[in-house]
Amino acid sequence: MTAAPARLRLVRPDDAHLHLRDGVAMASVLPATARVFARAIVMPNLKPGVTTVAAATAYRDRIRAALPDGADFTPMMTLYLTDTTSSDEIARAKASGFIAACKYYPAGATTNSAQGVTAIDRAFAALAAMEREGLVLCVHGEVTDPDVDVFDRERVFVERHLARVVAAFPALKIVFEHATTREAVQFVEGAGPNVAATITPQHLLYSRNAMLAGFVRPHLFCLPILKREAHRLALVAAATSGSPKFFLGTDSAPHARGAKEAACGCAGCYSAPAALPLYAQAFEDDGALDRLEAFASLHAAAFYGWPRNTGTVTLVRDDWTVPASLAFGDGDAIVPLAGGESLRWRVEAP
Ligand code: NCD
Ligand code: ZN
Repeated sequence: MTAAPARLRLVRPDDAHLHLRDGVAMASVLPATARVFARAIVMPNLKPGVTTVAAATAYRDRIRAALPDGADFTPMMTLYLTDTTSSDEIARAKASGFIAACKYYPAGATTNSAQGVTAIDRAFAALAAMEREGLVLCVHGEVTDPDVDVFDRERVFVERHLARVVAAFPALKIVFEHATTREAVQFVEGAGPNVAATITPQHLLYSRNAMLAGFVRPHLFCLPILKREAHRLALVAAATSGSPKFFLGTDSAPHARGAKEAACGCAGCYSAPAALPLYAQAFEDDGALDRLEAFASLHAAAFYGWPRNTGTVTLVRDDWTVPASLAFGDGDAIVPLAGGESLRWRVEAP
């Protein structure tokens, strides 16, 4: 067996699914992403949601103003779909040149999704306009029916809705966001090249046992919720397969420590500070480090039709400990994913 390489140089990666929040919270989390990633698909679930081109333009301006000096980072914006998103708004979004996608949240599925679509058919006029205009649809693929078990919500969404949407809009580019199940992976694999999926570091590294066995670990609670080990293995196989249908999307979703360690704790893992090392660990564990660059740096760009990034980042095989806690917003603290744990790869300072 050959020894693992001490250094691994990659084309700068893109994060195809990122929550930056806003205001002082955004200022605390943006540098961690901008240091490593060249571009990110920025999620629109602010409060209120980014439902218009005007709101996306203003949000993009705030992100760019909050970037550290010298940062080389391009936010790719998204519109938050509602029951009333018009075809005109979709045409304006495409014309903006910086709105890459629209995000479908089933109303009530996750953090700040109350304004989301109440039944997917209500978004069909907008989806038809997106198909015409060539805007990507990013899907939070979970049903919200109270009678569907939380661990089954993604599988049931794939069965009930995804196939129908793909059939109704055969030319629509769809990213099934944060895939967590074997069923989602199989659906994406079986669909045409216009259907892809993002995979998070937590779903590659942890099954639900890590969150729930013995003690509850609220910092591993995200939506869609971690699944059983067989699903994790299906996600690892998809991510490391080399298929261009699967790419990096951290779903880094920061919440203050107090909002996570609570009787009614928020969903979301703040993965940005260690995201690329966490992916590297998952790929290395599967003997697939040579596939990391395509997953992290090439597939999303190819799917979205972006130029390949010109810079590089270097991962160094050097143990380090993820900070147990970081400053967040106005005097709060935040616990990053794998906080306090030792990782094998770190990103070399640029
Ligand atoms: C995300 C958030 O906090 O905005 N939370 C999460 O658990 N993933 C929303 C989302 O992507 O579902
Ligand atoms: Zn998300």
